[in-house]
Amino acid sequence: MALGVLCAVQGPAEALLVQAVDADGRLAVARRCADLVELLAAAEAGLGRLAIVSAELEHLDREAVAALHHAGLRVVCVADQSRPWLTDRLAACGADLVVPPPADPAAARAVVERAGVLLDQAPPSVAEPDQASPELSGMPRHAAPARRGRLVAVWGPTGAPGRTTMAVNLAAELAALGRAALLVDADTYGGAVAQVIGLLEEAPGIAAAARAAAQGGLDTTSLARLAPVASPELRVLSGVARADRWQELPAAALDAVWPVACALAEWTVVDTGFSLERDEVLSYDTRAPQRNAATHSALAAADVVVVVGAGDPVGVARLVRALTELAELGLPATRFVVVNRVRAAATGPDPQRALAQALARYAGVDEVIVVPDDRAACDAALLAGRTLREGAPGSPARKALAGLAARLAALPVG
Ligand SMILES: Nc1ncnc2c1ncn2[C@@H]1O[C@H](COP(=O)(O)OP(=O)(O)O)[C@@H](O)[C@H]1O
Ligand SMILES: [Mg+2]
Repeated sequence: MALGVLCAVQGPAEALLVQAVDADGRLAVARRCADLVELLAAAEAGLGRLAIVSAELEHLDREAVAALHHAGLRVVCVADQSRPWLTDRLAACGADLVVPPPADPAAARAVVERAGVLLDQAPPSVAEPDQASPELSGMPRHAAPARRGRLVAVWGPTGAPGRTTMAVNLAAELAALGRAALLVDADTYGGAVAQVIGLLEEAPGIAAAARAAAQGGLDTTSLARLAPVASPELRVLSGVARADRWQELPAAALDAVWPVACALAEWTVVDTGFSLERDEVLSYDTRAPQRNAATHSALAAADVVVVVGAGDPVGVARLVRALTELAELGLPATRFVVVNRVRAAATGPDPQRALAQALARYAGVDEVIVVPDDRAACDAALLAGRTLREGAPGSPARKALAGLAARLAALPVG
């Protein structure tokens, strides 16, 4: 059976390409699509193995290309060579091949032949759209930012164990060690980083960064513009404070934000949501945004995951479950387990030992980092919109967090 081709090409190239596909014994045009919606519907219905699309197609972005890949299609983009920025954008969006519009039947046949070669190669990697290496037709490829810095995702179960407090203070301590740090609020349940750090309420930087990345237009300069400097060496990319705006953080776009973040900063510290649950009902629809996709995206990109649990019996039980869920993702990141708000009243007279024993027995954790309950310092810092090192430098909680930051800073690069 012939392999289906979905064609969404504008202008005179369309007829040439359709003829060339039909002349190819192995391929057949399955659908000529007028717009992206029609193209995605045909792709999701399993009608094609190859999509040939015009660069000018409205709403063609990284998410759309990811959806086509997800549906098992290779994506060939037809782009006018006189506009190199467009070619760059398409490559950054993850297109498998970018070609100039064919002007005659021979050129159209050449395009179809090259597309056929793509189909013989391994299928596109859906999980890692960044790995897709677009092949450009004799055009300079937009250089992907060289990844230098490392990414720490701060994650933990429900019950406000202190993820934001960890993320903010780890970023501040890393910055104080002279490391360029970028603090990112990717909590889709109501980001609070900007407020905690005392930034004036602004448009959510992360939503703007995700939008730019979806269009293939995010680089270190534009990211820096979206992430104001809060203190020396510390930039902050604020989150979506309004929980109903979580759709503005689609995973395909965030996947493209992280490499740019890591090119901008030596350490990117990401505050995430609490849940890893995937929405089963919506999973048929690859375009439907998933609320926890932002968390999954950050965890998948992380070099280090800091898992935070609360230091009381309920918090520890949740932490044990969270660690199991996290292990099921099979991530390569280095893991640190932090128990926060630890106090003898909630754990018994020797909290450090009790927690270490419980987590070793139930979750196989061999090292637990304990952060003491320190209401006075945390409340004072929160009230002033300052980090612990600014607001309560001698406090026990700050000392514990500075210690963890020093551990991160000392991790071998690898
Ligand atoms: N070590 C600590 N001691 C005392 N209070 C803390 C500590 N860590 C966090 N808190 C407080 O707990 C509350 C929830 O913390 P937060 O970081 O916002 O949690 P999450 O981001 O996990 O929802 C905040 O009021 C914060 O100041
Ligand atoms: Mg939080």
